[in-house]
Amino acid sequence: MSFLELAKKRYSVRSYTLQKVEEEKLNLILEAAHVAPTGGNRQPQHLIVVQSEEGLEKLGKAANIFHAPLAIVVCSDKEKAWKRPYEGKTLEEIDASIITDHMMLMATDLGLGSVWICKFEPEVLRAEFELPRHLEPVNILVIGYADGKKKSPDRHDEDRKPLSEVVSYERI
Ligand SMILES: Cc1cc2nc3c(=O)[nH]c(=O)nc-3n(C[C@H](O)[C@H](O)[C@H](O)COP(=O)(O)O)c2cc1C
Repeated sequence: MSFLELAKKRYSVRSYTLQKVEEEKLNLILEAAHVAPTGGNRQPQHLIVVQSEEGLEKLGKAANIFHAPLAIVVCSDKEKAWKRPYEGKTLEEIDASIITDHMMLMATDLGLGSVWICKFEPEVLRAEFELPRHLEPVNILVIGYADGKKKSPDRHDEDRKPLSEVVSYERI
């Protein structure tokens, strides 16, 4: 499968079967996270893998995780992230999101469904997982075997704005 075929195949899955994600597949997803680039190679991330009943229940207090069997909380440390010298912008959220995207596409490649979650209550998540203050929970990636009808890889002409609306050449 080419990269574009893989990217077109992926869609947000919000219904999962009860089947657990195999350890080998989880390890490959984490390997995809491991090779993701970060600004200045600072690697400010910390990933919390949640797959126990107790952990998923705790996570479910902070977000709708669609009864998936696996979720990875992608945290990032502002103090470790690369900082742009001009105005001081730090890259922790960008780094965390590239890692999340790598894992999401790896999951697709492995025949798994996933959905990226930003709609979570950070303070609830912090409290449930006793996160230290320096770690910011940026994204949750929910993963499992998709239940229900698959979305078409050819849906993007309707689902996305036309490229001509979001791309310009040489000037805005
Ligand atoms: C940064 C980001 C945050 C998102 N947060 C949520 C979320 O909190 N809950 C949810 O159900 N979907 C969430 N999504 C999924 C998007 O709604 C979805 O990717 C978008 O509608 C396009 O649909 P598709 O993924 O099926 O192509 C998020 C996606 C991204 C990239």
